[in-house]
Amino acid sequence: AGPCDLYATGGTPCIAAHSTTRALYNSFSGALYQVKRGSDGATTNISPLTAGGVANAGAQDTFCARTTCLITVIYDQSGRGNHLTQAPPGGFQGPEANGYDNLASAIGAPVTLNGQKAYGVFISPGTGYRNNAVSGSAKGDQAEGMYAILDGTHFNGGCCFDYGNAETNNLDTGNGHMEAIYYGDSTYWGSGTGNGPWLMADLENGLFTGRNPKNNPAPSITNRFFTAIVKGGPNQWALRGGNAVSGSLSTYFSGARPTPSGYNPMSKEGAIILGIGGDNSVSGQGTFYEGVMTTGYPSDATENAVQANIVAAGYATTSLTSGSGFNVGSSVSLRATTSGYTDRYLAHTGATVNSQVVTSSSASSLKQQATWTVRAGLGNSACFSFESRDQPGSFIRHYDFILKVNANDGSKAFKEDATFCPQSGLNGQGSSIRAWGYPTRWIRHYDNVGYVGSNGGVKTFDAAKSFNDDVSWVVGAGLA
Ligand code: AHR
Ligand code: AHR
Ligand code: AHR
Repeated sequence: AGPCDLYATGGTPCIAAHSTTRALYNSFSGALYQVKRGSDGATTNISPLTAGGVANAGAQDTFCARTTCLITVIYDQSGRGNHLTQAPPGGFQGPEANGYDNLASAIGAPVTLNGQKAYGVFISPGTGYRNNAVSGSAKGDQAEGMYAILDGTHFNGGCCFDYGNAETNNLDTGNGHMEAIYYGDSTYWGSGTGNGPWLMADLENGLFTGRNPKNNPAPSITNRFFTAIVKGGPNQWALRGGNAVSGSLSTYFSGARPTPSGYNPMSKEGAIILGIGGDNSVSGQGTFYEGVMTTGYPSDATENAVQANIVAAGYATTSLTSGSGFNVGSSVSLRATTSGYTDRYLAHTGATVNSQVVTSSSASSLKQQATWTVRAGLGNSACFSFESRDQPGSFIRHYDFILKVNANDGSKAFKEDATFCPQSGLNGQGSSIRAWGYPTRWIRHYDNVGYVGSNGGVKTFDAAKSFNDDVSWVVGAGLA
């Protein structure tokens, strides 16, 4: 049985079931998600390999070969048509045209399920999905449940990496108008013990770990794969969670609604959001693998059975990189492959990253400026960071999507901005190197300056023209 078969048996059926990694019903063999590729704008649906099984990641890899792909639709497997698509603007604007949010890269969150490859949904700040016309969701004070499997190591303190029930007009319409899973280390509203991250319930104008709107004894989460559960009914709600790869769930809170006014009774509106706050706050980050919304308040026993199903699905990490040429401790150069620019190397002048012509007779200072020491990724050791040859302790990082060479200040944000995941070159040469935290964005030269560009995005340096060439680099030995 799949998770939604278990919820149905428990009398609290799924009204929405979202996953890019696997079928959530034993008999489901339809489309799990849709991807759109950059080369020609074509779309395709990705389905399970077998009914009830793992997504056909190989079909995505074939369709997306030598180009970029975005996740355009996360289909609802419940049969109600509650699909998630690119979120529109609301109280806050997204970064895309007309205030829409970004779509997620199709390759940002690779995993295996019992050894079979699949891709999750990597949410960078600015990315979000929504459905404002949901069939069967909880409204007002009606009861509902939800779970999501998340990457417990991918989070931030921005508002708000959520999955769950939100406003239907993309605006903050007041306390109690949401009921969603939040994951991160925001302390602006509530928090738990330690430094976080925490599972909290986003009930609108507050992230709650219990009755007290500020602090309650909810634990900091350290699991790589984390099962997050929020459920709520009339003056009753609970937060539960656990390691998604072994063991059972813990109840972090179960009891009456929070004390401030507006949360009892609730005024749920019934939209579904992923990766954003109810008012389209777009500053959160996190990774979503699968999740469902139910009607009715699921029993702990039902959720425990779902947790056992999740553990049996066998989530595991897999390589974040492809191609070759990067070895920790080695010294490399990165030569441009765009026609007319192939004598240029990724280099820096002070803090500015650029591409410069370097030859064997160049000054050794220039050769050093175009040489990088490969380090284990500061923000994720499964990827890499590039330390300046002539400014040890300084690394290539992006800021406002512009590449810089800056000293490592030790912050989580710096480390993440300085982490890059090489893939086989998009134009068939060398490597293309995506930003770990923004998998739609790749190290690119544009007007001979360094950026992390997305293929056809809104920035000048996102231009689709010559994108694959501008992001493909021949990896060679260091020049000095
Ligand atoms: O409750 C926290 C956030 O506050 C909500 O997600 C958002 O709508 C509001 O800004
Ligand atoms: O480069 C994009 C973002 O810009 C970085 O992640 C952040 O540090 C800066 O605000
Ligand atoms: O960086 C040099 C060129 O500038 C790039 O190839 C092109 O995309 C831009 O016009």
